Formats: sequence, structure tokens, C-alpha cells
Amino acid sequence: MLITNKAQKLEGEITVPGDKSISHRAVMLSSISKGKSIVTGFLRGEDCLSTIACFRGLGIEIEDKGKEIIVEGKGLYGLREPEDILDAGNSGTTMRLISGILSGQEFLTVVTGDGSLRKRPMARIAKPLREMGSFIEGRNHGNLAPLVIRGGNLKAIDYQSPVSSAQVKSAILLAGLYAEGETIVREEVTSRDHTERMLKSLGGKVFVEDGAVKVKSSELYGEAIQVPGDISSAAFFMAAAAAIEGSDLVIEGVGLNPTRTGIIDVLKEMGAEIEIDNIYTSGGEEIGDIHIKGKKLKGIKITKQIIPRLIDEIPVIAMIAATAEGKTTITGAEELKVKETNRITAMVMEMKKLGIRVTELSDGMEIEGLNTIKGATVESYGDHRIAMAMAIGGLFSEGDVKIQGSECIAISFPDFEEKLKEVVK
Ligand code: S3P
Repeated sequence: MLITNKAQKLEGEITVPGDKSISHRAVMLSSISKGKSIVTGFLRGEDCLSTIACFRGLGIEIEDKGKEIIVEGKGLYGLREPEDILDAGNSGTTMRLISGILSGQEFLTVVTGDGSLRKRPMARIAKPLREMGSFIEGRNHGNLAPLVIRGGNLKAIDYQSPVSSAQVKSAILLAGLYAEGETIVREEVTSRDHTERMLKSLGGKVFVEDGAVKVKSSELYGEAIQVPGDISSAAFFMAAAAAIEGSDLVIEGVGLNPTRTGIIDVLKEMGAEIEIDNIYTSGGEEIGDIHIKGKKLKGIKITKQIIPRLIDEIPVIAMIAATAEGKTTITGAEELKVKETNRITAMVMEMKKLGIRVTELSDGMEIEGLNTIKGATVESYGDHRIAMAMAIGGLFSEGDVKIQGSECIAISFPDFEEKLKEVVK
């Protein structure tokens, strides 16, 4: 069980593990590319290991050489019918994106996941994929995994997505690689665009026009893929350093894709001092060092328009908002209810145990400022980001914060505790 307690400051230079979203896509897209791909910086978190296991099940040779992962891509039509059920574990990205790829395959696949994933909505991908011509069935009238998929003979669609979700957009774009015609996805607020960038970098015909993403059937070619550090993992350290005056922390080699940097904007608006150095681009993704200096923070309003750019960072933002001066309001974040757990309810329940004055809203929460955080035993709900947000709460608390079920942190950040020890003074 992870236990954290009061920190004086965060100081030093660290790196964080590879980006989860990009690691998934690196394995998936190189599996359906022609030729070898060499992936460096791959995140060996449980979610991405689930993606590797699924693609091995589909007949792709994937070798873990320590420093790099070698994927022997077999082209768009090189996957084979798996002998057994594929297991996406805890990973929504694995299940939803693979469903797009499997919709292009004429063979039969069954995909399942753990107890959490089997509760998460799949109609959001099943509906458009069916419209394209894929056969997808599941429990609860096709909304819940296990999913049964037999694809083939796809037709392009022009789809206005009811949710701003990169998993939905990506599932449709990946199916679009196999469809006749031009597939178009539109969303109200642009979600993370790693799929588009990587497809382009591997030779795919992808275009963005007036916010709509368009893809045409195209062959992909394997290449070297560098996975940057995950800004969503860096966020836990960024938030803690920003909120503890006197902190001075550098996180090196972090992905700075503009569809992911909402956390930087929010921390700056709250009053933190953040600078970005050593910027370069690789595989269409911007990478750089994030330098944070802790200041007295103030509460702010976070609304719908920015939510997709910081969706996974809301638990830790809520936590440090409790230490800021003045109220913080988060709205337009109902998507949090269908993550690994209901992250609104989970955060409100556990923050209250730490003595924080917080109110649950139907689409977010309201956090009063300047709380005296007390020690307590809290739950992770099996959700890695809840567990890590709680650990950060402990850095501000008068007593120990004990996080039950903290082993789930290995889903996205296996060496979180060691990194924390490295920089907490
Ligand atoms: C992800 C998209 C987001 C995010 C998740 C990873 C991705 O989910 O919360 O952690 O890799 O595409 P949604 O697409 O459901 O918003």
C-alpha cells in the first residue's frame, strides 16, 4: 500500500514513462504497416502490454528488446483470426481502437476486458462501425464487452461524433483505412490527435479540413517511432510542484502535442511559473522539457471547451485546487463518469475523507480553496489516476495518506513511487 505525507518541496530533474496513448498506437499501427517498426520509449504499463498481447494474438511478431520494441508489421491485411478471446485488460484505448481495425477484417474476434472495462460504454464505437458495415455484437444490446466482431466490406461514413473522444474518432479512422471512399469524423471539441499524426507519419492519407478529420484507404509503412514522455503522468509532478511554493522541477522529454497541454494552461492560469525548453519534433509529435516553479495558486473556472485537452488530469487538478486560494469549479466533464471508474464521484468521496470541502456536480465538481488536508486511508477504486491523485494529496497533508489498492498505478506509471521519492524533499 502506497503511503505519502507532507513534502517541503519538489526539486530536481526527472523523466516520466512513455506516453500511453502513443504507445498503444505505435503497436497497433506498426502491426498493420508493411515492414519492421522499431519503437523506443514504449510505456511498459499494463494497458500497453495488453495491446501487445492482443496483436500477438492476431499473429503479429512483437519482440521486447528492453530499449526498443520491434514490431514485424504485416500490412493492412496481414492479421490472422485469433485462436482465442483477446483480452484488453483495463484498457479502453485497446478495446475501442482494436475494434476499428477488426472491423476491416473478415475473420471473427471476441474482445473482453477486466471488470471495469466490461462496464464501460462501447455503443459509442459499435454504432458508427456498424454503419460502416461491420458486424459487432456485445452484452446489453451491443453496448458492453465482451464484443464479438466480424468485419469486412466497409463503406466510408461522414460521422458527427456525439462525444469528443479520441478513442471513438480513432476507431472510425482506423476502420476508414479499410473502407471504400473517404471517411470523415467531426467532433464538437477536438480530441487528442495522435492517431492522425502517426498515420500521416507512416504514409497514411489523412487530412484535416475545418476541424473535420478525413481518411482514405491507404497502405502504411513501418518506421522508427519515438514515444515521448507522457504529459498525463508528468501532470502529477507538475501539479504538485506548481502548488508547493519553493519547488523547482524539470521534467525532461515530455510530449507537448497541443491537444494534450491543457494542464500547462490551467496551472499557469492558477499562477504557476512554467517554461518549456529544448523543443523538437519526432514522428509529428512535439517534445520538450517542462520547468515548473511553485507559487501561491488561486482557484479558477475550468469549462467544457478545455476538457478534452486535460481530461485525464482532472483528478490531480481537483486535488491541488484544494490547496489554492479561492474556489475552483470544473464543469462540462461528464465524460469522467465513464472512465476506469466514475472519477467525479470517486474524487469527491475520497477528497472528503482528507477533510477537503468539495461538492459533486452533475458534470464536474466545485472545490473550496485553502483546505487543511488531513491524513486518512483512501480508496483507489482500481483506477490508476485516482490512486496517483490521492498520493499527491498526501504531499499536502498533516498526517499520512494511505492509498488502498495502489497497485493499479502500474497500469500507466509503474515507477511512480520511485520517481516521487526522487524529487520530494
Ligand atoms: C485516450 C483518449 C481519452 C483518454 C484516455 C486515452 C486515447 O479517452 O481519457 O486515457 O488514447 O485515445 P476518450 O477517448 O474516452 O476521451
